[in-house]
Amino acid sequence: MPDRKIAVVTGASRGIGRAIALRLAKDGAFVIVNYNGSREAAEAVRDEICKEGGEGAVMQCDVSDYAACEAWMKEIVSTYGRIDILVNNAGITKDGLLMGMSEEAFDQVITTNLKGTFNCIRFAARPMIRAKSGCIINMASVVGVAGNAGQANYAASKAGVIGLTKTAAKELASRGIRVNAIAPGFIETDMTSVLSEKVKEASAAQIPLGHFGKAEDVANLAAFLASDEASYITGQVIHCDGGMVM
Ligand code: NAI
Repeated sequence: MPDRKIAVVTGASRGIGRAIALRLAKDGAFVIVNYNGSREAAEAVRDEICKEGGEGAVMQCDVSDYAACEAWMKEIVSTYGRIDILVNNAGITKDGLLMGMSEEAFDQVITTNLKGTFNCIRFAARPMIRAKSGCIINMASVVGVAGNAGQANYAASKAGVIGLTKTAAKELASRGIRVNAIAPGFIETDMTSVLSEKVKEASAAQIPLGHFGKAEDVANLAAFLASDEASYITGQVIHCDGGMVM
């Protein structure tokens, strides 16, 4: 079993999850790079971790599947002994105006973003409670705080993640577990690459710092929250958004 902290990052084959996985590994954690469909991309992240002198593994799990999450967390504990850090990063968008939004688009986004976060916390908290220590970081969004036209499903899922974060923080604090959320603004990843140049320009104009953030900006914050330097911080929603929502 690795002599390092065991960190689990969901949806870590690309974007923000990939950056967090690389950063936590650089900081000394053994990182479990989770993916749902993109095995090769996840393996490339693990290879990059190992090339830099770190350690990690890839594990498949669809976070929206409750039973699969239970089996996955059990497998992690039986293979690696414990879970020190859980980063609930996996997320999707299915944008559209409220009046035209299908039931399927609403359900899929809630099931991945909100229920997926619940599923992982539900089963990772068990070994953390036993160990009387742990750190959970949930990826919310400024949209979950401020709302956004065209993202009723996504905004609701991220607002739900914020409520879940605060509740889990209250329930788990006495067991030595800290739970925080990160609310990114616009970050340059595949998720935002689909936006038109017009939308990107209009979005950048709403950001006091004047530009989109990078996945590494979010990873820096996740690394801080996961570290002992954040040992007195729990139940917080910390924005990483260039000042977009204050
Ligand atoms: P991305 O689309 O590049 O990456 C999301 C990852 O989650 C992908 O690897 C995908 O395969 C994985 N994933 C999706 N469904 C999954 C499932 N059921 N099980 C396991 N993995 C699954 O997106 P990005 O930009 O890296 O976003 C990461 C997180 O940050 C998401 O939760 C997103 O909502 C949040 N976020 C992103 C912002 C941005 O501007 N990029 C802004 C605010 C929040």
